[in-house]
Amino acid sequence: MKAVLFDLDGVITDTAIYHYQAWKEMASKLGIEIDEVFNEQLKGVSRMDSLQLILEKGGLGNRYSESEKVKMADDKNIVYKQMIEKVSPKDLLPGIKELLKDLKDKGVLLGLASASQNGPVILDRLEVTQYFNTIVNPAELRAGKPDPEIFVKGAQQLGVNPKDCVGVEDAAAGVQAINGAGMVSVAIGNQTTLAAANIVVPATEDVSADLLEKVWSVSVNCNEVF
Ligand code: BG6
Ligand code: MG
Repeated sequence: MKAVLFDLDGVITDTAIYHYQAWKEMASKLGIEIDEVFNEQLKGVSRMDSLQLILEKGGLGNRYSESEKVKMADDKNIVYKQMIEKVSPKDLLPGIKELLKDLKDKGVLLGLASASQNGPVILDRLEVTQYFNTIVNPAELRAGKPDPEIFVKGAQQLGVNPKDCVGVEDAAAGVQAINGAGMVSVAIGNQTTLAAANIVVPATEDVSADLLEKVWSVSVNCNEVF
């Protein structure tokens, strides 16, 4: 294992609640109600794709022009940015700081593969930017997760082969993207929703540098046998 590519929301910190609250506020202005069950579909999905899913839920999928939609997404982002102003190192999910440190000490390269354009700001607020060798810019992608592009690009930016990488995700769309990139996938969360991953663990504190290394070597050896 030469590199680990991390998702951000739900893996490094839990900003999903702020995305949800900001979208809920915007949607209700349009007369669309969203709940936490619907919100699951938005996890890992880009800002514009999330907006489209919300509009479709309200039967307004074709109602607005592209520039009107950009304005709505910008407004949501203004609210979201106010919400994340309070993010600080205490918002790192359990075990993540130790995991980043251990991987770095072992000489493993680290990359951020988040759909969020606010990723760099959030890493700064969490004071973990220095652990990352690269951050993929989601604004430059042709397709968002579940398309593998973001993980493929992360490996390219690190100069490593995808088969030498592990991707860590909490969303089904993200696991699909990691697998499609030809990497080993480690998922955090629900066993059933994330069943496509090479391994699913219940929480961030269950992920260690040793576990990632083990899952990578077992998965790579299995693929060679079959
Ligand atoms: C992902 C979140 O990490 O980033 C999604 O899971 C979000 O909910 C997406 O829509 C885009 O984030 P941003 O910060 O660019 O609006
Ligand atoms: Mg996530």
